[in-house]
Amino acid sequence: MSDRAQRRRLARRCVVTAVLAALIAIGVGVMPSGDPRPADTSASEWPGPIRDQTDRMRLGTAVAGAETNTSLQDPAYRTILRTHFDTLTPENQMKWSVIHPEPARYDFTGADELAGFARANGQTLRGHTLLWYGSLPDWAAGLEGRSCQDVRGTLRDHIHTVVARYRGVVTEWDVANEVMNGDGRLRIGGNPFVAACGESIIRDAFMWAREADPDAALYINDFDIEVQGPKLAGLTALVARLRRQGAPIDGVGIQSHLTTASDLSDLPRILADLGDQGLDVAITEADVRMRLAARTPVPGETDKQATVFAELVDACRTAQACRSFTFWGFTDRFSWTGTPAFGQGRATPLNADLTPKPALAAIVRTLRS
Ligand code: G3I
Repeated sequence: MSDRAQRRRLARRCVVTAVLAALIAIGVGVMPSGDPRPADTSASEWPGPIRDQTDRMRLGTAVAGAETNTSLQDPAYRTILRTHFDTLTPENQMKWSVIHPEPARYDFTGADELAGFARANGQTLRGHTLLWYGSLPDWAAGLEGRSCQDVRGTLRDHIHTVVARYRGVVTEWDVANEVMNGDGRLRIGGNPFVAACGESIIRDAFMWAREADPDAALYINDFDIEVQGPKLAGLTALVARLRRQGAPIDGVGIQSHLTTASDLSDLPRILADLGDQGLDVAITEADVRMRLAARTPVPGETDKQATVFAELVDACRTAQACRSFTFWGFTDRFSWTGTPAFGQGRATPLNADLTPKPALAAIVRTLRS
């Protein structure tokens, strides 16, 4: 394990010890802020903070929001958020369209509020994300077609500005997000920086992030790499090449946007292989979509969802290299998968009314096992 990882682990143990001491001092049943236990969930489902059910990895969730954090206005949501998770990920608050809406203007409103919430509750953030084709404002998307020399300064300034601002509260960054196509080749479409500069800009992005914050763990993040195949092979080869060129890549984020039909039998080996390459791993965006009819899970789906979540948690819990496990939202109330009338959705462990699904008990059982 890298000594940065050692330092982080030691820091984490100190924080966890301090938080546990505080919880013991005031009694686990009362939230640190003294807020009552969330009215919507029965005590049996929440055996105390779920982040205390394991010290194997940090537990996290994405926090719904963008320019503002409307979800934080919801008292029951806030209580669960501050009680059960070590680390929070801004779902949209740090994306270019929100945080850098014009070439010479940044808007840190949503991200600053979330950073303040995390600091006040002894939590850290996973920064998301610095180099991506998604959620680019028109001015940045319009850089497509420009030369590398023209665009790389824009990316450098963005990374230096945003990473430096959240130094100390963001402990892991998704520096590069979804830069690999399903066939294992670099994803260029919609990403003006990669289109102009090729894969060297990914190395530069990691170097600029390291310059701005020497202590944050730097991740490359993608989906559909929970299974063996050309995408995982391409990403693994890219990471090895970039590291040989000096890119300070600390870890691989495995998003884990799954369905009840997902087969995770490859995952333990994948996590072990990445660890053998000296990389940390994080499950960064875990959710499990269920088949729905009239907004209701098809019979059997809630149990299948519980099984898939449990397998995913167990894979991270038992892999030496897996440092954190983050849900892409803990309730359907704000989930990007929503509660569609038909098709797939309702992908999180809690219903929109914050009542737990069978998945929560399965997750807790697995964390404790
Ligand atoms: O904030 C604006 C609001 O001002 C505007 O009125 C409204 C209507 O146009 O749009 C709002 O922005 C939306 C934003 O979510 C906040 O709700 C964007 O249109 C919408 O595209 C954005 O969707 C997000 C999506 O990434 C694209 O950035 C989802 O919430 C988010 O869950 C999803 O998350 C991604 C990860 O970042 C990367 N991995 C895949 C994952 C799921 O797609």
